[in-house]
Amino acid sequence: MIYIVKSKDETRALAKSFATKLKKRDIVCLNGDLGAGKTTFTQFVFSALGVKSPVSSPTFSILKIYQGDKFRLNHFDTYRITDMEAIEAGFDEILEDKDSVSFIEWSENISSLIPSKHIDVNIKILDENSREFEIKYE
Ligand SMILES: Nc1ncnc2c1ncn2[C@@H]1O[C@H](COP(=O)(O)OP(=O)(O)OP(=O)(O)O)[C@@H](O)[C@H]1O
Ligand SMILES: [Mg+2]
Repeated sequence: MIYIVKSKDETRALAKSFATKLKKRDIVCLNGDLGAGKTTFTQFVFSALGVKSPVSSPTFSILKIYQGDKFRLNHFDTYRITDMEAIEAGFDEILEDKDSVSFIEWSENISSLIPSKHIDVNIKILDENSREFEIKYE
């Protein structure tokens, strides 16, 4: 499905509706250029799922884990790492955790760890405040 949003508020509304469809063990791959809105979308989904603490970009920490109302929420940013490093860090086990949902920015860097069944969220910048979101359930 393709959604066009014209503001951050519309991104928040889309994130809220997307959040209702998530279930344990889902893996969400966020794809899009720098500044497309991968972190912003994740923040809106996590807050819709009951995360109270502020969700910040995990760029420097690579992984941040939050507790939502129904499941644990993992937020990865694998911009700086490789498959090998991800495995050494135990990320494959975290992705398989049966009680959590994972969001991954730059998942192409760890493609061998991504199961074929995952959700792609492809974000394109249209202009300053507008974005195209393509959401694909595989
Ligand atoms: N409709 C919109 N939806 C989401 N973000 C928007 C929108 N309009 C403007 N923005 C702005 O775009 C930027 C998106 O930044 P964000 O950090 O979420 O991107 P990112 O894809 O995670 O980048 P990076 O690859 O650096 O991690 C923010 O500054 C946000 O305010
Ligand atoms: Mg980001």
